[in-house]
Amino acid sequence: MTKPIQIAIDGPAAAGKSTIAKIVAEQLGYIYIDTGAMYRAITMKALSERINMASNEEAGKLLAKTEIDLQPSEDGQLVFLDKKNVTEAIRSQHVTKAVSEMATHKLVRKHMVELQKQLAKDRGVVMDGRDIGTHVLTDAALKVFMSASVEERARRRFEENNKRGILTSLEELQVEIAERDKMDSERQVSPLRQAEDAVFLDTTTLTIDQAAQKILKLAEERMI
Ligand code: DC
Repeated sequence: MTKPIQIAIDGPAAAGKSTIAKIVAEQLGYIYIDTGAMYRAITMKALSERINMASNEEAGKLLAKTEIDLQPSEDGQLVFLDKKNVTEAIRSQHVTKAVSEMATHKLVRKHMVELQKQLAKDRGVVMDGRDIGTHVLTDAALKVFMSASVEERARRRFEENNKRGILTSLEELQVEIAERDKMDSERQVSPLRQAEDAVFLDTTTLTIDQAAQKILKLAEERMI
């Protein structure tokens, strides 16, 4: 049997990372870790406790009394915040709008990166996020930077939200995605960036299956 590898998938919001990463993980029998969910979970708690979202220190104190747990399941990754299942709740527009600010904080990132490294240790894993190839799985055998036009990303998110019963306009989503991209790429601590050794994958005109197949092929090439 070939040795399991680590696959890091980064890219801007709604580029299809989680859908595609999940398929790749399933095909390879690896675990899938959606790191955005961790930032979303702490953001949800920060909003409910009404802490100052701009404060690194307050975010750090909040994390110290917070338990975030990710568990794989048949329906994908489940997210627990202080033992409560928040898998769906963290996808709300309220959380989505606030998460990029929370993710700028140094203390938050340090904590999350440590957790992510532990989760991936010594196992076959597909992990997606913004800084996986550059800061979390820096030795990953395969790094992919996935993107798509902002119009296409907004269209995909619109359809996804519709299926979940979340009502948003296409224009509103386009603005929100562009704002999030800007904040995630311009923050000081580990901004969204393509790792030097990452393969760029534009999914604008690809189907989910085509994108997954491309990654699987790249993964196979890297397995010993
Ligand atoms: O992947 P997502 O849209 O669920 O991520 C939500 C936010 O979390 C994203 O706008 C930026 C932040 N994030 C991050 O800073 N680093 C990661 N590795 C993953 C997500």
